[in-house]
Amino acid sequence: MKKLALALLIAGSSSLFAADGAALFGKCASCHGAKGEKAALGKSQIIAGWDAAKTETALKGYKDGSYGGAMKNLMKGQVATLSDDDVKALATYIATLK
Ligand code: HEC
Repeated sequence: MKKLALALLIAGSSSLFAADGAALFGKCASCHGAKGEKAALGKSQIIAGWDAAKTETALKGYKDGSYGGAMKNLMKGQVATLSDDDVKALATYIATLK
């Protein structure tokens, strides 16, 4: 009985979490690939499996202009409407991509 409850708890919480980041990542996938496996527009680094803190720094940096390369204005537009919670969910999700 206890085992079942625990299994349900784990399944429940992880799927909730994944849904959030996964849903947000939908609009990123066109450039970065469904699993973050592509160099976006042939320019970006491959972000699949990036440490969550690293992704968070990059996304927040695009927002405030402190991070990025030649195409950072494009990414600025992508992240402009994301909340801090959205950024966290995305970063956590991207870290799970392989
Ligand atoms: C229209 C294409 C496009 C979309 C959509 C897009 N990106 Fe990007 N992304 C790029 C490009 C191009 C770069 C490289 C920008 C630069 O020069 O810094 C990049 C860079 C990044 C980087 C840093 C990688 C590096 O090279 O330093 C991260 C992290 C990232 N994107 C995450 C996201 C997330 C999360 C989303 C969805 C909210 C998203 N991107 C949507 C094209 C896109």
